[in-house]
Amino acid sequence: MILTDDEKAMLDGKEGKTRQKAIEFLVKYGTALGAERLVNTNNVGGYMIADRASYRKFGSFDALFSLTGLDSEETLEFPKVKAFSCQFETDMDPEYCDIEGKDEEDYRRFKANEEWLSKIGVQLMCTCTPYLVGNVPVKGEHCAWMESSAVVYINSVLGARTNCEGNTSTTAAMLTGKIPYWGFHTDEHRLGSHLVNVELKVEGLMEWGLLGYYIGKMVGEKVPVLDGIKIVPSRDELKQFGAATASSGGVEMYHIPGITADAHTVEEAFGGRTPAFTLKYGPEERKYAYEQLNMIGKNTDVDFVMFGCPHNSIQQVQEICDLLEGKRIKGGSSLWVLVPRAIKDLAKRNGYDKVIESAGGVLMSDTCPALGHLMPKGTRVLATNSAKQAHYLPSMMGIESWYGTTEECVNAAVTGRWEGALK
Ligand code: F3S
Repeated sequence: MILTDDEKAMLDGKEGKTRQKAIEFLVKYGTALGAERLVNTNNVGGYMIADRASYRKFGSFDALFSLTGLDSEETLEFPKVKAFSCQFETDMDPEYCDIEGKDEEDYRRFKANEEWLSKIGVQLMCTCTPYLVGNVPVKGEHCAWMESSAVVYINSVLGARTNCEGNTSTTAAMLTGKIPYWGFHTDEHRLGSHLVNVELKVEGLMEWGLLGYYIGKMVGEKVPVLDGIKIVPSRDELKQFGAATASSGGVEMYHIPGITADAHTVEEAFGGRTPAFTLKYGPEERKYAYEQLNMIGKNTDVDFVMFGCPHNSIQQVQEICDLLEGKRIKGGSSLWVLVPRAIKDLAKRNGYDKVIESAGGVLMSDTCPALGHLMPKGTRVLATNSAKQAHYLPSMMGIESWYGTTEECVNAAVTGRWEGALK
């Protein structure tokens, strides 16, 4: 690998042992991937979470993150990060310890984890949608982000450049401001591979989830190019779409020519190449996606309704509150509305927390059921408007689930019954 002078200096230990260890890892990692060089990054997002068992075992964040973040059995002292860095989601919302089944020890660990991150300069955004709360990379910006839904969003919608990184590579990138130059950092890798002729009008969060779920299933980790989109999707529809493609498949980048950042035309999206495959999305494909997402739902007695995977925008919270205002959720049921912490503050200023709480629900930040392994005690049947959670939660938590529109889910919370259907 060809290294610059500042990279060589770090590798020689001129900036201390911790950065030396970090760049050693990046050089090894990049070499294994066939990268010829590193690239500067000033936007890194990762999950540096000390769970209860690990924190008990290691006793210090330096020791724990030396191992999980830098693959070092020796405890290294963490200096301030070099790149602008943010913490994605965590394993709990400290406001709702009781609901989440957390105790005083968890609360203290969570607070200490935050203090440690803040000491080394990591921004506590605590969300998988940092692009909703101020971290909006620009077109062409090299980033190093974890979290598949965020990666596909910033690559495709914003035209930023990142691969779906892991714990060690994001920790090393935070400390060095470097990441291997390969994959979606390069022009070549970003070109389309599969053409998808969309024959239906796609409008609304549920429909974009179905389309994304179908495409992810069909293309796996390739780069789909959508042709035939007639209505410009909203940011939240694209957020849902990308998360669905990254769940049923492993899509990290897609093109909707004229709408997403990299290409104005289908030809430009393929860079002159011929598509490897051409697919269509019509009524049959839509029905297939709906049935797949509702495959695990048998019992129509719903006891848990969840909104906010990926985390909700303020517009989504407003829509939920408009549907919920003046209603009460069924006794014995739970309703969670998940948001980034900054949006929780904004929602509180608008009084949305009161609307949700009066209905019997909670406005929760910082975490989610899948990442925190959290659910209301005794949950058996989930209803959600998130294709990603409908895909993951049944197998992760051993529950049934229903996927539908926001309105169908609010109704399920109020009546305790699933009455959604594909119209
Ligand atoms: Fe975010 Fe958790 Fe979904 S991290 S994308 S809310 S699985």
